[in-house]
Amino acid sequence: MAGKLIIGNWKMNTRAQSAQSLLDALLADSECNQSWVGVAAPSVYLAMLAQRLQGASLQLAAQDVSGFANDGAYTGDVSAAMLRDVGCTYVLVGHSERRQYFAESNPLLLAKMNNALAAGVVPVLCVGETLEQREQGDYLQVIYQQLSILVDIDAGDYLIAYEPVWAIGTGKVATLEQIAEIHSAIKTWCLQNAKPSANIRVLYGGSVKAENAESILKTDNVDGALVGGASLDAGSFRMICQAA
Ligand code: G3H
Repeated sequence: MAGKLIIGNWKMNTRAQSAQSLLDALLADSECNQSWVGVAAPSVYLAMLAQRLQGASLQLAAQDVSGFANDGAYTGDVSAAMLRDVGCTYVLVGHSERRQYFAESNPLLLAKMNNALAAGVVPVLCVGETLEQREQGDYLQVIYQQLSILVDIDAGDYLIAYEPVWAIGTGKVATLEQIAEIHSAIKTWCLQNAKPSANIRVLYGGSVKAENAESILKTDNVDGALVGGASLDAGSFRMICQAA
């Protein structure tokens, strides 16, 4: 399945030693050390990991980026220019955990997208509905509202990740029909509303595992996967990359 992109999101996990060991295991594995595979590591470890990635194909990603500036009095923030400086190719924007625990909403997320694009880091805009929103039946409207910031992006290469909140870290995977419906809806919405006419790529995230990766990645309009828990185990992540 050429052309699929797999990004492992380590979230707030690992320590310096375990992050290096995990990365070394991925680098030693030809299924994982590919240009279409990335790892989103905790920001404090990005520079350290970038050193090990020199000359490798595996790509580095960040989990978040400042929506303010590239430099200045923004204590604790990490700018897009800094991410680019240490060699990040991708950055997650608006992961549901950022939306939930850090109250990130559209204006800030638009600024993050624009900052990443301006610095040459490809943003991965994460969207997805909660279980309550799905049960109420208005999940498409929720996703369109999250996508609406793309109307204000003039140009640039970005990715979208569909991650139903109820499927994240729960072991409950969306059905292939649900995934196909939402991915198709996202692409249609982007074609009709977003400015970039470039090929819109949509990753699926939410309890992707070695066992289900192949069927998910074969589903219509699925261009890759954003993998949380399973990306912390080199063996599991390898099998997901192998399925791509
Ligand atoms: O960013 C990754 C997603 O939150 C999915 O996490 O694979 O542990 O469900 P998960």
